[in-house]
Amino acid sequence: MRIDVISQYAKLTDNQLASCTSIVVDLLRASTTIIYAIKNGASQIIPASDPGDAVTLSSRLGGRDCVLCGERGGLKLPGFELGNSPLEYTPEIVKGKTVILSTTNGTLAIQSVRSSATMLIGALVNCTAVAKAAIQAGNDVVIQCAGTEGQFSADDAVAAGAIVDTLQKNLGAAPTLNDLAFCSRMLYQDYLDGRLDVSRTFHYGRLVELGFNQDVELCFQRDTTDVVPVYRNGVIVAK
Ligand code: MLT
Repeated sequence: MRIDVISQYAKLTDNQLASCTSIVVDLLRASTTIIYAIKNGASQIIPASDPGDAVTLSSRLGGRDCVLCGERGGLKLPGFELGNSPLEYTPEIVKGKTVILSTTNGTLAIQSVRSSATMLIGALVNCTAVAKAAIQAGNDVVIQCAGTEGQFSADDAVAAGAIVDTLQKNLGAAPTLNDLAFCSRMLYQDYLDGRLDVSRTFHYGRLVELGFNQDVELCFQRDTTDVVPVYRNGVIVAK
């Protein structure tokens, strides 16, 4: 198996993706939020590239069974019901509902790898489950990090490294890693050993400044769920 970690979206062609399993990672916070929404009973999640599309879709689907969600700059969009905090996606609000979600980078990362043979949503909270689902799919793996506004984001790389590490430990034969897969795994080890202080990185710091400390803590918890969301025919559902 080959494992490639890609630092930000829109770097791969449809041809490169056609035979791969992609794992989309936006640790802070879109992929963690999607996992929580599915875990708490959302029937499906529709990723919308921009807020206008999200609003149009929600009125087309007729409001009642939909929850309109999204953020820009980390903050809930005006007129939207939920922002992008995993803690907001409680069973009381999302159970049985279609969640329409538009986020700055995460939903664009999902759109960018939609031609993959299989697309899964990964984070630290479902690290082992998503790695095992990727092994079961049997293809080469692309871990597509969302990045932050077109740049490398250390939080995504730590989560990608944890997934690479788990894949390696669960595969029979040693996989071939691209350089970022190799370095992400080392970064994850640095994080575990206390050599990497993630609180000094840009997006982490911005979320803390905005008051989302609890989100950040939750997003850095490992293996709290077995839920693996999968993208199929334009929507994200439970695997
Ligand atoms: C994104 O999609 O850029 C993020 O998930 C931003 C956020 O933390 O809300």
